[in-house]
Amino acid sequence: MRKITRARSSSTMFLSSSATPTSSTSQLEKEDPSFPNAKRVKYKQPSPISEKKRGKTTKIVNSTITLSDHKPNSTTNTLWNPRDPLHIKSVKEALHVSNTPTTVACREQEQNKVLQFCKSSVQSQNSGSLYVCGLPGTGKTLSIEATNHLLFSWTKEAGLQLPQLLAINCTVLFLTQYHDYLPCKSSDVRSPLQHLHDLYSHTKETYPGRMMLVIIDEMDYLITRDKGVLHDLFMLTTLPFSRLILIGIANAIDLADRFLPKLQFLNCKPIVVTFCAYSKEQVLKILQQRLMVLDYKVFESDALELCARKVAAGSGDMRRALGACMSAIEVLEIDMKDHAKSQEINMVSYDHMSVALSKAFKSPFVDTIQSLPQHQLILLCSLVKLLKMKKSSTTMGELNKSYLNVCKSTQVPACGAMDFSNMCQVLCDQGLLKLSQSRQDKLKKVTLLTDIADVGFALKGNRFFRNCLE
Ligand SMILES: Nc1ncnc2c1ncn2[C@@H]1O[C@H](COP(=O)(O)OP(=O)(O)O)[C@@H](O)[C@H]1O
Ligand SMILES: [Mg+2]
Repeated sequence: MRKITRARSSSTMFLSSSATPTSSTSQLEKEDPSFPNAKRVKYKQPSPISEKKRGKTTKIVNSTITLSDHKPNSTTNTLWNPRDPLHIKSVKEALHVSNTPTTVACREQEQNKVLQFCKSSVQSQNSGSLYVCGLPGTGKTLSIEATNHLLFSWTKEAGLQLPQLLAINCTVLFLTQYHDYLPCKSSDVRSPLQHLHDLYSHTKETYPGRMMLVIIDEMDYLITRDKGVLHDLFMLTTLPFSRLILIGIANAIDLADRFLPKLQFLNCKPIVVTFCAYSKEQVLKILQQRLMVLDYKVFESDALELCARKVAAGSGDMRRALGACMSAIEVLEIDMKDHAKSQEINMVSYDHMSVALSKAFKSPFVDTIQSLPQHQLILLCSLVKLLKMKKSSTTMGELNKSYLNVCKSTQVPACGAMDFSNMCQVLCDQGLLKLSQSRQDKLKKVTLLTDIADVGFALKGNRFFRNCLE
């Protein structure tokens, strides 16, 4: 039996007995990179009836969560006033990624699957496991949290024994609180995994028959080379006296392929629930739903559509959609400083969104490319020209010919062979190119590591380099 050791050197695990933080630590703090990873959040058993949450009251009625949202006093007009700081603030609040919405739109089916699985485990007192996977920002954590609340309220209503809840976020792995939550002595030298293994292996008597719901979020961090910890965790559900309902959540969509066959072999294959990337319609619906708490229309319809289209065409990550909307408001705020324009602005327009999106989706290479000196840029343009004709790579010899041609056509004196070779090396060091090994420089294979479109985008404002690319 392996110990759960730190998956990353800075990792810490927090164990909790509920999904609801009792400390003043907000979700905002948890998301904020300026907060240290090792921050511990204590959780309390969720109240299924009502919960005060950042000025909001959450009520669970008939298995649906409704929320009476706090609206700012000054927002009773139907027209948004971007000159009113309170109006701006309320929109930013509604769109902030940490502001968890009242209902999780577009995830009804996935939540239902998870809820049904948990309900049947609680009812039958049978152990089991579920594996939730999907790209980041597809609402996995949000949906599982919402499902938890529903499960606890259903369990209470059904008069069943509430399961113990242990929520673990593997990005902040910290095991010392473990003894606070399980009936074992703090002097116990066994690892938590060993403890659970012993607990579920021998006899029911050492531990009451209460089910334990263990949610392991960001499970990707537990992947070690031999995936041993993952196997051991899921194996816990197969032990003779197991009371474990295990929900693993992971971002890596290929993780299932990598470790499920072994789990099947070990007879502890979890039920898999996949969260697909949000479609354009879903992103739009979620944005509109989040903005519904406001009394006024903030975004022009085609601005929101543009955002949804662009995000869905990428990873379908809701965080990016929310970030782009926030950034569009900032673009509007900058525009407002221009007195000539400011009186005409009363909504976030398509153009504001377009600027925000091009910033948000800008490749990290764009800044690097824009800061290169002239000859390195000519070299890069020469490579792009070649790659447009050929497939994915070329040789340094061919690249040198292309570079000399571009220099000739633009009437720029070309660098010598030695300088050319050094420039290739610099671009390699910047992560823009890859050079293969070869004794002769001219035979070295050259691969562009950024997208051709990034080079075009970075240089679109400069006529000289636009010509080089033609
Ligand atoms: N269906 C949704 N409705 C409203 N907001 C959502 C939805 N899905 C994602 N979000 C927003 O995106 C953020 C990231 O979602 P999260 O559940 O953490 O994604 P994941 O766990 O899949 O990476 C949430 O905090 C929330 O603000
Ligand atoms: Mg998550």
